[in-house]
Amino acid sequence: MLRRKSDMKKVIATITALVMGGSLAACGKTSSSSESAVSNPGDKTIGIAMPAQNLERWNSDGEFLKNKFEEAGYNVILTYSDNNATKQNNDVIGLISKDVDLLLIAAVDGKELSKTLDEAKAKNIPVVSYDRLIMGTEAITYYVSFDNATVGKLQGEYIKEQLQLDDTSGPYNIEFVGGDLADNNARYFFNGAYDTLVNYIDSGKLNVRSGKTTFEQVATTDWLPENAKKDMEKNLNANYPSGTQLDAVICSNDSTALGVTQAIDSTYNGSNQPIITGQDGDEENLRNIVDGKQAMTVYKNLNDLTLVTFEVCKTILEGNVPAAGLVDSLPMEVTYDTGSYNNGKKYVQSYLLVPYVITKDNLQLLVETDLYKWNDDGKYLSKVK
Ligand code: BGC
Repeated sequence: MLRRKSDMKKVIATITALVMGGSLAACGKTSSSSESAVSNPGDKTIGIAMPAQNLERWNSDGEFLKNKFEEAGYNVILTYSDNNATKQNNDVIGLISKDVDLLLIAAVDGKELSKTLDEAKAKNIPVVSYDRLIMGTEAITYYVSFDNATVGKLQGEYIKEQLQLDDTSGPYNIEFVGGDLADNNARYFFNGAYDTLVNYIDSGKLNVRSGKTTFEQVATTDWLPENAKKDMEKNLNANYPSGTQLDAVICSNDSTALGVTQAIDSTYNGSNQPIITGQDGDEENLRNIVDGKQAMTVYKNLNDLTLVTFEVCKTILEGNVPAAGLVDSLPMEVTYDTGSYNNGKKYVQSYLLVPYVITKDNLQLLVETDLYKWNDDGKYLSKVK
């Protein structure tokens, strides 16, 4: 089932309700156990497990979510797991033992939490999978994320347009740099991009000189810039000797793009600057976009993601079922999807937001999210802390 809305009147009405201190979840109610199920938020604790603080975006996610729940009166326990699946599993066990009322998890390793979450299910603790889908368990109630395949597709389409693949004869050289093998999203990003470009690869208009054309071959351990840099330096040394031109590198996100940009600086001898993609709108990458070292980033508005997540969780905690009805009350475009994300046990009910492309020509769009501001130099952007 797919349900999408974009009714402007409703958007304005909902924003007004929000400004007036109204509740989105109340509008989104599709079934209600009973009004008396609505309890005092102060009696409820949300356990939030985020993957790591050394990758920029999760700090913002953790902070935003914590603030949103606390502003509404809920208690929050927020954990970070140093990108270590065992540590995160222990963190979640700790949260379950503290009898949290809801678990909100962005998994380090999508497959490592299933046993622990079965315990959460046995204790009737709802589990919401945040940004990354948790695999192999019936315990997940909802998944809130962006359309992950579209992230990759936008990157692929950007390369297609920039290289004018339909109007020029090429051939061009391209490489792919993917995310971590254990992150379920990473495969969607890679496939989204690869599938967009595969016909040009098959026809020989795009060459992948390294021969690395599968997700497994291009995955970057822990998504870390230093690992992406090492892999890219090796690739450049082996496949791009004496000024051989590399035209484009599809990097699944900004941390990998950062490493690739460094490898281009240190090791690349071609005369052009390869077109490098990214995802997230990390500060250093936005500087690189202004400086022409990275071409684009796919932006996922974290304010919107945390707002949708908050409304889903709040509705559950109030004893109601968010399901498709919640979409109508949300002030941004969201698809309610029950047929795309299967975690090996079931199709997980998903709320999917819409990502978009940022280049040096539309950085102002980031400022309009209220999450970024122009620096005094009027040239670079910083995140609003
Ligand atoms: C997220 C990306 C992020 C990556 C590394 C993915 O699961 O969707 O936004 O760049 O993890 O942290």
